[in-house]
Parts: sequence; C-alpha cells; structure tokens
Amino acid sequence: MRTVVPCLTILLVLAVGSAVHGCPPSERAALLAFRAALKEPYLGIFNSWTGDDCCNRWYGVSCDPVTHRVADINLRGESEDPIFERAHRTGFMTGYISPAICKLTRLSSVIIADWKGITGEIPRCITSLPFLRILDLIGNRLSGDLPADIGRLHRLTVLNVADNLISGSIPASLTALPNLMHLDLRNNKISGTLPRNFGNMRMLSRALLSRNQISGPLPASISRIYRLADLDLSLNQLTGKIPEFMGRMAVLATLNLDGNKFYGNIPPSLLVSGISNLNLSRNYLTGELPDVLGPRSYFTVLDLSYNNLKGRIPKSISEASYIGHLDLSHNHLCGPIPSGAPFDHLEAASFVFNDCLCGKPLKPC
Ligand SMILES: *[C@@H]1O[C@H](CO)[C@@H](O)[C@H](O)[C@H]1NC(C)=O
Repeated sequence: MRTVVPCLTILLVLAVGSAVHGCPPSERAALLAFRAALKEPYLGIFNSWTGDDCCNRWYGVSCDPVTHRVADINLRGESEDPIFERAHRTGFMTGYISPAICKLTRLSSVIIADWKGITGEIPRCITSLPFLRILDLIGNRLSGDLPADIGRLHRLTVLNVADNLISGSIPASLTALPNLMHLDLRNNKISGTLPRNFGNMRMLSRALLSRNQISGPLPASISRIYRLADLDLSLNQLTGKIPEFMGRMAVLATLNLDGNKFYGNIPPSLLVSGISNLNLSRNYLTGELPDVLGPRSYFTVLDLSYNNLKGRIPKSISEASYIGHLDLSHNHLCGPIPSGAPFDHLEAASFVFNDCLCGKPLKPC
C-alpha cells in the first residue's frame, strides 16, 4: 500500500491536471495569432481551432503529452486527410507566417507545406526555437533571405524551403548545424556561393539545391560529408572543375551537376564509384571519356550530353555491369560505338549530334 497510494495520487494529479489545464493560455493565444495571419478559404482546417484546449483536436496541432506544450504544427496542403477528400481539392492558403509562432518555444516541428499562396518572409525569430528539429515550408511563395542566424537551430535535422521565392545567399551559419540530415533549397532564387565550410554539416545525407542561381566552385570540404548520398546542384551557375574526390565519397549514389558551368575533364573516379545516377549534362566539360569503366560501373542514369567531349567512346564502357539510361548526345565524339551487353538496348538518341560516331544504333562505319 505504501507505494500504491503515492502512485495513484500521481496518476490522479496527472489526469486532473491534463483535463483542467489543457494547453497553456499563452500557447493558445499564440496559435490564434498565428491563425489570424492566414486565410484558408476552401477546406476550413482552422474551424477546429476552437475551445480552450489547443491540444485537443485542433487540426495540425499536437502537444507534448506530459507538459501540454505545443510540440508540432503540421499543416500540409497536399494530404490524404479526409478533409481534403471531401473538398475534392488540394489546399490553398494566403497570408503570412506570423512571428507569433515563435512564442511556442517548445516547438519541435513546423510543417507548413504546399499551400501555394503563403507569402512574406520566414519569421526571423524562428531561430530562437531551441527545440526545433524539422522546419518544412515547401511549396509556398515565401520570399526574403534565409535567417542569417539559422545556425542557432542546433537541433535541426530537416530544413526544407523548396519551391518558394527565397533569395539572398546561403547563410554562413547554416554550416554550423551539426545535426542537419536533409537540406532542400530547390527551386528558389538563392544566389552567392556555397559556403566554404559546407562540409561541416557532417550528418547531411541529402543536399538538394537545384534551380537556384548559386555560383562559384564546389567547396573541397564536401569531401568530409561521409553520409552524403544525394547531391543535387543542377541548374545553377556553378563553375570550376569537378573535383576528383566526388568519385571517392563513401555513399554518394546520386550526383546531379547538370546545367552549370563546370569545365575541364571528367574525373575518372566518377565512372568507377558508387554513383549510379550521374548527370553532368549541359556543362563545358572537355577531354575524352576516361577509359576506366568496368564491372564496378553500374548506372541507372549516365547523362553526359551537351558538353564538349571529344575522342572515342572507350571500349571499356561495354564492360559496365549496367547502364540504364545513357546519353552522350551533343558532344564531339567520333569513331565506332562499342558493342556489348550494356549497349544492346540503347537507341540512336543516346549518340546523335556528335562529330562522327558510327555503328549500331547509328549508321554502319
Ligand atoms: C540531365 O540534366 C539535363 C539538363 O538539366 C536534363 O534535361 C535531363 O533530363 C537530365 N537527364 C536525366 C536522365 O534525367
């Protein structure tokens, strides 16, 4: 009995506590201020934001079960939720993200994604949320810079602001995020160079920055990101040579550098690495295709089109274990196309617009 009674008392206090208190009034007020800056005309997702307890069935809000502090805001404009099925449409919201959100100091995730019409800036004060792990604002019309002191969010694992109108350069402090695993800045208006210390983000496994206006070289520090599996820098203004170390990264599987201004030779390491999805199309690459392919070369995509490659297609290419999609078109290659297993299924489009390639699937030599 000695131990049972105190236990029961604690349970009772917890039960009564949660029933009576719900979410703290200040958090409820912050949520209502956040809602007041947004307009969601079609689904009525905010209709559930009534009553005193914001932890109880407020759409997209969840609280810590013990402290009743708001822990997650999860509002997705593209969702399987019945509310969307009933309305037969995806979400649309206008307005802006109110700085009132920053009063929810226990937030661990903020997902305000795919609402298409939310404008304004990312509130600067968001960097003062010490427990934030996930910041996902994809698919809105947010503009302005990324907060300069974003590096304060040292618990951040996911930063996704893709498909917005974010401008300015990548803040140097971003590289101070030691836990960041997933960085998605695709399809914005970000300019400037990649921070020299980019490689300080040791936990990064996906870095997606395509469709921006990023210039300058690939920082050598990238070679230190041992977990990097997917690097997409396509359709920017990057320049310089493609570093040889890119082909020696432990788990890099996808490397998209297409649509930039890279020049120089293709590092041989790239063709015998773990990279299975390699797109170097539409750069200024020169020299010959390295004659290094072999059984270790496995490509679902190998796109080297629209460069200035010259010389022959090396015979070794037919020793690759697999090449799903090959594109060598629009270069200055010449000579016979090697025959062999990985080539049998390829069509003429893979080889057209070169100087003098010949043989199957083009005209006989
Ligand atoms: C490679 O990049 C080019 C240029 O950005 C693009 O047009 C092409 O579709 C990409 N190739 C593949 C196979 O995705």
